[in-house]
Amino acid sequence: MPLPWLKLPAMSRLRWVVFIVIVTGSALLLFRYTFMKERPPIPADEVHLTVAGNGDACVSCHGPGGGQPRPRSHPNGKDCTRCHRWEGERP
Ligand code: HEC
Ligand code: HEC
Repeated sequence: MPLPWLKLPAMSRLRWVVFIVIVTGSALLLFRYTFMKERPPIPADEVHLTVAGNGDACVSCHGPGGGQPRPRSHPNGKDCTRCHRWEGERP
């Protein structure tokens, strides 16, 4: 039995092309922003070489109340070294 609500109007070839371009374009952009965003390395300076550990110690400066807060767009994770390598380390 045909399902009446599935009877979509046939799309023209041009509409299909536009649709596919938009869908693949959005997918590529999402991929790019998710996996290829530049992640600055942790500087190997006096401040950072004396920080013990990872996470709460870093948030004391880079958290909302700290002196060097991360931008609002920054991911929320506390596991800093999962994304940031130390300066000079191989990527
Ligand atoms: C005592 C405060 C303090 C602590 C603790 C601290 N930082 Fe920083 N961080 C700074 C300051 C100030 C800067 C910017 C100046 C500089 O490059 O040193 C900075 C810069 C950075 C940058 C580079 C940002 C850029 O735009 O290049 C990263 C990445 C970073 N910190 C990660 C961390 C991580 C991870 C930790 C924990 C292991 C941490 N920080 C602990 C003060 C701190
Ligand atoms: C899920 C991955 C991820 C985690 C976890 C992460 N970061 Fe980042 N960080 C990024 C990316 C991507 C950028 C660059 C884009 C941006 O600035 O939002 C960045 C940028 C930064 C910057 C530079 C901000 C600026 O002013 O340009 C600092 C400082 C920083 N992170 C600190 C930290 C600290 C401290 C932690 C742990 C508490 C941490 N990050 C955890 C991905 C991550």
